[in-house]
Amino acid sequence: MDKKIKRLLGKAEIKKGIKKLAQKLNNDYRNKSPIIVCILKGAFMFLADLIRELKIPVRIDFISVSSYGDSSRTSGVVKINKDISIDIEGEDVLLVEDIVDTGLTLSYIFDFLRRKNPKSVKICALLEKRVKRSKKIKIDYRGFVVPNKYVIGYGLDFAEKHRNLSDIHVMEF
Ligand code: IMP
Ligand code: MG
Repeated sequence: MDKKIKRLLGKAEIKKGIKKLAQKLNNDYRNKSPIIVCILKGAFMFLADLIRELKIPVRIDFISVSSYGDSSRTSGVVKINKDISIDIEGEDVLLVEDIVDTGLTLSYIFDFLRRKNPKSVKICALLEKRVKRSKKIKIDYRGFVVPNKYVIGYGLDFAEKHRNLSDIHVMEF
């Protein structure tokens, strides 16, 4: 059965939010060349749009973890499926994530990368759910706060579908 979806953020609004984030990053990282680590798969579209607004020299890498199975609920377990390939020791790292829900995924990746001795690790998330987080994490750069509902589109999936949608929608169960 097809589930109902309702638009939450349109592409123009997303674009504007990303421009604002990029302005802050261009300012905060001027004279630096951070390594941007994109958390796959959800953040790929956000990454692609964000980096095109950056004026600073960046290097791009990817990390893949699993925390959610093919359902809308967290499994509570985070596993590294693909590690980064650039050496981040002594470097400024900017983690790019699609959405922060419980914070479990990001806090795990944050601690994992910290052990590689980077100079700094900051977090940039397109969306943050308005929830009481089980893991305390500092989101340094945030695009939008969204309600505590399941969202899809613009890279975000439900059972691997809908990542290709240009807008962000709420999925109704
Ligand atoms: P957390 O570990 O609970 O913060 O969950 C973060 C991860 O779960 C994100 O990287 C997303 O991939 C996924 N996720 C959390 N909420 C949603 C949602 O509403 N839609 C799609 N994916 C989500
Ligand atoms: Mg994700």
